[in-house]
Amino acid sequence: MVAGVGPNGGGGGDEYPGRFTGFVAVTCILGAMGGLIFGYDIGISGGVTSMAPFLKKFFPGVYHREINDRSHSQYCKFDDFTLTAFTSSLYVAAFFASLVASTVTKKFGRKWSMFLGGLIFLSGALLNMFASHVSMLIVGRILLGIGVGFSVQSVPLYVSEMAPHKYRGSLNIVFQLSITVGIFAANLVNYFTPRLTSVDGWRVSLGGACVPALIIMVSSFFLPNTPNSMLEQGKPKEAREMLRRIRGISDAEVEAEFRGIDEASAAARAVEHPWRNILLRRNRPYLVMSLLIPSFQQLTGINVVMFYAPVLFQSIGFKSDAALLSAVITGTVNVLATFVSIYGVDRWGRRFLFLEGGVQMIGSQVAIAALIGWKFGVTGDVTVLPAWYAWLVVGLICFYVAGYAWSWGPLGFVVPSEIFPLEIRSAGQSINVSMNMFFTFLIAQLFLTMLCHMKFGLFLFFACFLVGMSVFIYFFLPETKGVPIESVARVFRDHWYWRRFMVADDEDDKGGPCGKKFHSTAV
Ligand code: BGC
Repeated sequence: MVAGVGPNGGGGGDEYPGRFTGFVAVTCILGAMGGLIFGYDIGISGGVTSMAPFLKKFFPGVYHREINDRSHSQYCKFDDFTLTAFTSSLYVAAFFASLVASTVTKKFGRKWSMFLGGLIFLSGALLNMFASHVSMLIVGRILLGIGVGFSVQSVPLYVSEMAPHKYRGSLNIVFQLSITVGIFAANLVNYFTPRLTSVDGWRVSLGGACVPALIIMVSSFFLPNTPNSMLEQGKPKEAREMLRRIRGISDAEVEAEFRGIDEASAAARAVEHPWRNILLRRNRPYLVMSLLIPSFQQLTGINVVMFYAPVLFQSIGFKSDAALLSAVITGTVNVLATFVSIYGVDRWGRRFLFLEGGVQMIGSQVAIAALIGWKFGVTGDVTVLPAWYAWLVVGLICFYVAGYAWSWGPLGFVVPSEIFPLEIRSAGQSINVSMNMFFTFLIAQLFLTMLCHMKFGLFLFFACFLVGMSVFIYFFLPETKGVPIESVARVFRDHWYWRRFMVADDEDDKGGPCGKKFHSTAV
């Protein structure tokens, strides 16, 4: 019997007593650190790859093309395989790491998974900081990627297992908020480091990643494991005591929640084949969402701006310095607009935010394509651009980033995390994170080549995806605002399309060992 298993399992509908204790506050900060690691990486590489001393040292071909070849198309001047490999190698490593991390997280607990992530990340940051050859840069990025994969996998789990369940939704968005803060911090660092005279600015930018790495290592070293991890490791006494401490209440008061977690853990252990179960017909809606939502999030084209804003801004006529400053501006908009989502997600609902953000992004992409097409044409040969023009493009990019930051950004994590039933939660979460990393890799690797070939049409390309994904949300995503986790299956069962998949256990020809449990939990 799994119904009402509480915040840590499949349930969450019961009102368990407990305060928002100092312990919980510390875990929130720790969650934020996990996001910072990810965000810092996203924001740092674009700025570094637009710094002349960095290009000169590691990518002399790109550097000379930029300096000498004035007649060369603006669209293609940064198109270079090793330059994009520098950015994208991190995400391919994160893709594999996020798949492995779920096993480590399960076996050794969330805490040690985070610590390991921080340690590997630190070694990558050091390697990058002292790099003397492009191979050191790429190996460093791979290590950073492994660190990111481990933290993006384990930190949200850690936070959601520590948090009282009524705060879990907002804490999910705090994770996205911390990603945006990480990106913004990286943009700022990139803006100031080229001014340093005694040391190479890019070394400081890349080495700056040591800071979030050390913070997550030190904090995860001192923080306790979650009660769930303790139960998984066969330590029920310690788990109960830990739960009592984090909730700040007496033994008797904590008993109901503890029993819930214990039952949820037992049920989760009984799921022998989460990866097979996710393929069952009744789980089709969740499988589709876990594949499409993270992929669509990346197909908004957001990381074109996050990775390459300084490069893009240089292409539209800004000098290196102003290009870095514009990245700081878009980074600020990204952070601030995320608060709109925190405010609105439980008031206006997920669908409204997805659709409004989608329309806003489509409008800005089309306008950006038109403006770039107008001045650069298909040849991309342009010498002087008026300042008002460049700033108009920056304004439109900010409008686009704001639309993303209150829709697909946070919801890309929130929606998948709240729809999976217990029997497939871990597998679903792994698919979600790995799809995100895979598409991030694709965009990072392909963008500069695509810009070179598709020119201003690239922005229309992303706008077309946005039209498709907004139509998908309109027809296929049921509203989950205010729906307790254990009732989410009912929303899908009532949905005009998904209801055909939500069959009873005995109708499911391959009904797995946990089919019955799933239905008692989910309905
Ligand atoms: C995405 C990142 C993106 C960031 C921008 C996150 O939700 O997963 O790829 O760079 O949002 O704020």
